Amino acid sequence: MSEATEQVISGLEGVLACESSIAYIDGSIPELSFRGYDIHDIAQTLTFEQVTFLIWHDRMPPADELRAFSADLAGRRAVSRQILDVLHAMPTTGHPMAGLRTAVSMLGAMDAHAEDISPEDNLRKAKDLTAQMPTIVAAQARLQRGQEPIAPDPSLSHAANYCYMLTGKRPDDTTTRTFDTMLILYAEHETNASTFACRVVVGTESDFYSAVVAGIGAIKGPLHGGAIDEVMRMFLEIETPERATAFVDQALAERRKLPGFGHRVYRAGDPRATQLRTMAEKLGVASGDDRWFRIATAAEQRMREAKGIIANVDYFAAPVLYHLGFPLNIFTNVIASSRIVGWSAHMLEQYAHNRLIRPRARYVGHRGRKLGAN
Ligand SMILES: CC(C)(COP(=O)(O)OP(=O)(O)OC[C@H]1O[C@@H](n2cnc3c(N)ncnc32)[C@H](O)[C@@H]1OP(=O)(O)O)[C@@H](O)C(=O)NCCC(=O)NCCS
Repeated sequence: MSEATEQVISGLEGVLACESSIAYIDGSIPELSFRGYDIHDIAQTLTFEQVTFLIWHDRMPPADELRAFSADLAGRRAVSRQILDVLHAMPTTGHPMAGLRTAVSMLGAMDAHAEDISPEDNLRKAKDLTAQMPTIVAAQARLQRGQEPIAPDPSLSHAANYCYMLTGKRPDDTTTRTFDTMLILYAEHETNASTFACRVVVGTESDFYSAVVAGIGAIKGPLHGGAIDEVMRMFLEIETPERATAFVDQALAERRKLPGFGHRVYRAGDPRATQLRTMAEKLGVASGDDRWFRIATAAEQRMREAKGIIANVDYFAAPVLYHLGFPLNIFTNVIASSRIVGWSAHMLEQYAHNRLIRPRARYVGHRGRKLGAN
């Protein structure tokens, strides 16, 4: 079919852009599964390494394979001096996502096999980026505080090492498990805007890094992953649970969109938010300061009553990351460093069954104008 159909679907809502066997979403239930396993079971029982293996290979790894896979990832965490130099050279006034985007682009420029788009080499790149993006993000967090980056510790799990590179302290089991679960909940989410951006770049048979850079550019936006920073800023501005209702009412009266609310696919609730709500509450209670959780639930309740709009994944993830000690302006970087798992799976799938992604536009501009005729 070469002629375009007449109907324009605003925001491509509900449009099926590809076939995929990675994540299943039914927004009406709501249901989310990775490779056929329910997200709640996954979040409560698996580790980030297990989920990464599952998403990439479509099967659960037996113990010996998991050990080898985890060690392989751990051995890839260190980044070169040139990458740290790039991070040092970043202006402190810039958005940390610009730093991550630039560092990943630099990794691509330095990879002698960047143009090799074979499945084997693309899987190698997926492992490198999954292992190294946390090292970059933790280094960014430290550099902006005037601290030197910390080298990764390969004896620690992915999540424990991430916290360690950020704080310099080996985290306790509860912190590790909480952060691990958060990373899992962000690891994959079907053809969201950033994943679709990655697939579009792969569709041209461009290289893996170029596609990931596109994904980082897309997830940075405040309607997508960038909302998580905005959520925490909103909670800080609300300040106390008692002010939450009035804050929501005023925003709605001004027809402002509130970060962390609404979703294109989930209209009846975001299953990831269900997990994160419990995690945010537990962390608040354990820290002796559950203010952010109480602000969040008060604003959520008001939003539900007033507009029936649900809290999405970013809403309760923001206080979780805040309690874990991540600086507010790198929250989006953290979720990008987890979503690399899903981006990679979709990119491998796209390379394997590729056809150029090239939609049409319904032309609504002038036609038939003559130059010189005014
Ligand atoms: C996620 C988002 C972009 C989805 O957009 P969408 O599918 O195009 O949804 P729509 O903009 O069509 O929203 C439908 C209705 O809900 C309202 N709405 C949606 N999200 C809202 C929000 N966060 N705050 C207030 N109202 C919201 C819209 O104003 C619209 O109301 P109307 O029908 O009275 O005009 C949107 O909900 C949003 O901007 N949320 C805030 C950013 C965010 O948290 N993003 C992270 C997503 S995981």
